[in-house]
Amino acid sequence: MPATPHGGKLTPRAVDAEREAALRAQYPDAPVFDITPNTFADIEMFSVGAMAPLEGFVGSGDYASIINDIRLQNGLIWPFPIVLAVDADTAATADKAGAIILRFHGAEVALVEVEEVYDPDVERECEHVFRTTDDAHPGVAYVKGLPEKRIAGPVHTFALPPQEYGDYRLTPEQTRAEFEARGWSTIVAFQTRNPIHRAHEYLTKVALEGVDGLMIHPLVGATKADDIPADIRVQCYKIMMERYYNPERVILAMFPAAMRYAGPREAVFHALARKNYGCTHFIVGRDHAGVGSYYGTYDAQHIFDQFDREELGIEILRFEHAFYCTRTKQMATIKTTASGPDEHIFLSGTKVREMLGNGERPPEEFTRPEVADLLIRAYAGSNN
Ligand code: ADX
Repeated sequence: MPATPHGGKLTPRAVDAEREAALRAQYPDAPVFDITPNTFADIEMFSVGAMAPLEGFVGSGDYASIINDIRLQNGLIWPFPIVLAVDADTAATADKAGAIILRFHGAEVALVEVEEVYDPDVERECEHVFRTTDDAHPGVAYVKGLPEKRIAGPVHTFALPPQEYGDYRLTPEQTRAEFEARGWSTIVAFQTRNPIHRAHEYLTKVALEGVDGLMIHPLVGATKADDIPADIRVQCYKIMMERYYNPERVILAMFPAAMRYAGPREAVFHALARKNYGCTHFIVGRDHAGVGSYYGTYDAQHIFDQFDREELGIEILRFEHAFYCTRTKQMATIKTTASGPDEHIFLSGTKVREMLGNGERPPEEFTRPEVADLLIRAYAGSNN
């Protein structure tokens, strides 16, 4: 059986045309507000029910309780506030009108009923969610750059404009149906914002040995500028699926969320969301959802120690730092080889980007040659 959604049931927020018309008629003065790609990613998540148990943007009570206790006021685990940030004038107009309409790239994508307008404590939020208030942290910079007010209330999403890789954007209902059709009762999810390199491949395959199926679930919402763009990554994932994974046992689907780079707290979000997609297991390796050196290598694993397995509702598979071992001539971790650091082949993301930028091919021990070639071509193209 696929996992029970967080809070007990999925909460898809998409409405049909009739309900949309009724909502618009109910709130004729609702102002229209242009949202960022990050907020649009939240809207897409709400639309399909991936944010369960949330049905909308959180109010000040949940905001404080999430920040302080990693929980909603009702006690359910939730790692960071999902908020709608607007300027003071828009907040006042929306408050009076009772609702606000959200627009993305010219399309009206949602209506939010205004339950509350409040002021966030951004410093405190960053301190707790990101464990830093440093402006150089991309998640902190994003939160600090938001307009000053927060609007809370239920979200109703309209027909969303078609998104890229639509065929791969399976909703939680669709992934659950697929798992059932394949007869899988244990499914491990893999989150990534990178092309799949050998270390990723190793984690996913080791994990798959212990369960029925694997869902490779790359994040394709907003990421920072120097991350490898999703369209290039999707080509890499397809190559991996065609040549290096067993399609009988592996599903490739896209995760619409945006990156927050919140390390440990984001690992919790990633796990809970994958539970909503029906997955029973979730991989957390080294520096999950980290950036720079803000988090300890295994902080994103340790955060799960404070939760009860039952309440978390998804099994966390923790992995050591994986590398290619030249002594045993295979992928390994310090758990599985006794070799020393000079026998380990591992490249940092920065080093790989540097090599690709120079047209250099990362070694086969680090990345599959077809993926390396594709990345080199993509990088050469982007430099022209
Ligand atoms: S993330 O932001 O999505 O976490 P990335 O795509 O690099 O970034 O990582 C995806 C998953 O693989 C995470 O769980 C991460 O901890 C894990 N991971 C990445 N590289 C390694 C590695 N060399 N060894 C162990 N785990 C790794």
